[in-house]
Amino acid sequence: MQAAFERWTQSREIPTLGTNAGAQPLPFQQWRNFKEAFAPELVARAVSESGRPVKRCIDPFGGSGTTALTCQFLGIEPVTIEVNPYLADLIEAKLTAHDPAGLLRDFQRLRMGLHDAPRFDLRHLPPTFVEPGVNGRWIYSDAVAQRIEAYRIGISSLPLEAHRRFFLALLGGVVVDVSNVIVSGKGRRYRQNWLARQTSPETLDKIFMQRVEMALIELTAHAFRPVRSFTLLRGDSREKLKEVPRADLAVFSPPYPNSFDYTDVYNVELWMLGYLSDMTSNRNLRQSTLTSHVQVHREYAPKPQGSQTLDLVSERLHEQRSLLWNKNIPSMVDAYFADMRQILADLQKKLYAGGEVWAVVGDSLYSGTLVPVADILKELALDMGYQWVRSDAFRSMRSSAQQGWRAELNETLLVLRK
Ligand SMILES: C[S@@+](CC[C@H](N)C(=O)[O-])C[C@H]1O[C@@H](n2cnc3c(N)ncnc32)[C@H](O)[C@@H]1O
Repeated sequence: MQAAFERWTQSREIPTLGTNAGAQPLPFQQWRNFKEAFAPELVARAVSESGRPVKRCIDPFGGSGTTALTCQFLGIEPVTIEVNPYLADLIEAKLTAHDPAGLLRDFQRLRMGLHDAPRFDLRHLPPTFVEPGVNGRWIYSDAVAQRIEAYRIGISSLPLEAHRRFFLALLGGVVVDVSNVIVSGKGRRYRQNWLARQTSPETLDKIFMQRVEMALIELTAHAFRPVRSFTLLRGDSREKLKEVPRADLAVFSPPYPNSFDYTDVYNVELWMLGYLSDMTSNRNLRQSTLTSHVQVHREYAPKPQGSQTLDLVSERLHEQRSLLWNKNIPSMVDAYFADMRQILADLQKKLYAGGEVWAVVGDSLYSGTLVPVADILKELALDMGYQWVRSDAFRSMRSSAQQGWRAELNETLLVLRK
């Protein structure tokens, strides 16, 4: 069972088990760089230390699919939920048993189709996206935007859905690389000298081809996985978790209550790949994400009962409301814990007796008030009847994208048992 997992992971060194550690050079995890991914070793550790044998494992916040992919390599049936449709496709592309020869044939077909691609109408994209942009700035030259659209349309006409998903996932991995911007936890900013250093459609062709080649090699090298089945639910885990089958373990990292909006971070992919087509779809997606940011208007759920630490933190944040950079932050933090309490309650129903929750969570800081997320979740969980197994603060988030690269905030592995 372990052999496939070791073959997959041994090709690179990992310094820690935290998020943003080691996922980069790992096969499959380069398809789209995902800084917030945790290491597969964390999932393997959860499986080996679990209070009960693990046949099925849930991840309600799929991201780049680390938990699900690791489970396939470990011979465990994965169940994953992801709200972001691009990330859901990326996860599914990684979990699917592909036929590399068929993918190669379709890639040749795609490349041939570029020769007679018409000129596309790109006016559905936000005005900042394509030259002449807004205020003299644009994310793509017209030529590069046209070539991305030519690939997108070509991909959409491939006969097999699995192939369409595979190529779209990989195209998503390059669209920011060939743009005039870089995207981080802090948002989007223009590259230095972006105007002088415009990418060409030929560069896009070259990078995309390299990524496809690499992915085909990885698929071939790691075709054997003891489990090939998977369950992937697309949508909001606050609703979808009710639909998943029962399981032995849950390993996940939710968004942190730090105002980092995943929809913003994946905005370029979501628009360029056709997942978003108007402002309503953008707003709907933002509202379906966990309450961890204040960028979108929404009803905030009230603070849950059961944590004295949360009571104190919430009171202080509400008192400091006028000092905070956004007046909704105190209500967002309250609602974050209401959401997380619901996730823990749903997991409690889905886990078999002795089943564990392994959650990597991160603290936040607002105007000098620390939000100790693991401590609060521990108190809420104890109040709900979970047993607390351990909290390991395993590194500061100095270099965490989820924390907008801020210093001195703890990231904690919280382990609970039903
Ligand atoms: C920290 S990332 C998970 C990283 C993952 N552990 C990995 O290794 O790739 C959190 C993920 O939760 C997703 N998410 C946010 N709100 C969600 C919701 N309500 N339902 C499902 N997924 C959600 C985000 O889109 C993001 O991909």
